[in-house]
Amino acid sequence: MVTIVIGSQWGDEGKGKIVDLLSEKTSITIRFHGGNNAGHTVINKYGKFPLHLIPSGVFNPKAKAIIGNGVVLDLEVLANEIARIKKVFPNLQSRLIISPRAHIIMPYHKLLDKAYEDAKGKNKVGTTGRGIGPVYADKVSYNGIRLFDLLDPKIFREKLKISLLIKNKIITSLGHKQFNEDEVFNEIMTHFKKIKPYIKNTNPIVFDALQKKKNILCEGAHGFFLDNEFGTYPRVTASETVSGNVTAGAGIAPKYINEVIGIVKAYTTRVGEGPFPTELFNKTGEKLREVGFEFGTTTGRPRRCGWLDLELIRFAAKINGFTSIALTKLDVLDSFEKITICTGYKYKNKPVSYSDLSAEQLEKVTPIYKVLNGWNKSIKDIRIFSDLPLNTRKYIQEIEKQTGVKVQLISVGPERKQTILHA
Ligand code: GDP
Ligand code: IMO
Ligand code: MG
Repeated sequence: MVTIVIGSQWGDEGKGKIVDLLSEKTSITIRFHGGNNAGHTVINKYGKFPLHLIPSGVFNPKAKAIIGNGVVLDLEVLANEIARIKKVFPNLQSRLIISPRAHIIMPYHKLLDKAYEDAKGKNKVGTTGRGIGPVYADKVSYNGIRLFDLLDPKIFREKLKISLLIKNKIITSLGHKQFNEDEVFNEIMTHFKKIKPYIKNTNPIVFDALQKKKNILCEGAHGFFLDNEFGTYPRVTASETVSGNVTAGAGIAPKYINEVIGIVKAYTTRVGEGPFPTELFNKTGEKLREVGFEFGTTTGRPRRCGWLDLELIRFAAKINGFTSIALTKLDVLDSFEKITICTGYKYKNKPVSYSDLSAEQLEKVTPIYKVLNGWNKSIKDIRIFSDLPLNTRKYIQEIEKQTGVKVQLISVGPERKQTILHA
């Protein structure tokens, strides 16, 4: 049984919480793309953990946690995260496995990330500054450095030399100090030593689990509308966040995929720049940010907030093949008298779909809104669907009607237990 968890909006939908919950029943959790631009919060009996690279399923002591080949690694961040999790699980080495095919974020990637943003000025993406765009650019242009290379320091040295030859020319021309080869080499190797024991070919482990029909959980990062193909390009991230990327990023063939769970936040948020049709610039938006505590897990930036956009979710459901929805942060809406949802868009007075439009056109759409009554009651302690207030159930039914996908899991608080199953 292979299940994929996908963020359906612009990230921070609560994937960490849901993956932690689902991992109770899985034997492997795999991250298959992205890097430490992700920040997944897990709150369980072990404490509160903002995870950037280690899969959120790591808290099942019987399960393996795999960092797949599609992930890009900042070795210092990874070493620190491993140290933190090792405090809870001293024998982590027996079940955290990192693919040798994963690419390494080098110090010059982080500098170039910032340089591109500075050069773009008001057209910037609003990246996390973690070097994600530049490391993936090196990957697809055959200039990346992988863990495989670090396992043979001679090869690493050779590749680093060539890389710096070009990167230093760009960097100095932009007025920055050039990187010293020995310094970069030594810094990377210092962090690498700490993660070396975790590196192992992940393919036989995944094949074996598939053959034995074990449960595998694939943890998507970011959100579908940050997808490099289908998102609001160029205000996107560098990886493909779509469910189908599990094949490229984790080595799981499409025929094995059984379930794709779309994580839908009960309203919408976005960090960084880019179109956001239902964004609120008023007190209601501020209230969503305050009640939902919408500040970035990775960068601490305030998140832009707005109403739930079902035009987006409908498209995400089709391309990702959602088999169900997990609706999160529903409790955040507890004190709203009226709750608005977007059911579609108009562009130049004509109905349009998300997929008709470029990002520039999306900036100019008029959302079509429907207003529902709120429930004015705390739902954070409710555990059974039928105990939810009528208006809460009506809100959920409206989401199911508009998207054609069943809401099978409802999250009413950040903790693992604050969850309602709705089979
Ligand atoms: P992710 O990137 O999708 O894993 O999401 P983040 O962890 O970046 O952001 C989600 C935030 O909402 C975290 O602080 C979670 O602890 C919190 N959270 C998750 N689910 C719920 C929920 O149902 N209700 C509330 N109030 N908070 C939640
Ligand atoms: P999780 O997994 C929210 C956004 C950045 C920026 C754009 C490109 O926690 O949901 P990048 O650093 O990737 O080059 O930035 O993508 N972004 C996220 N926003 N949650 C995330 O991850 C994000 N990962 C990237 O804010 O707009
Ligand atoms: Mg996050």
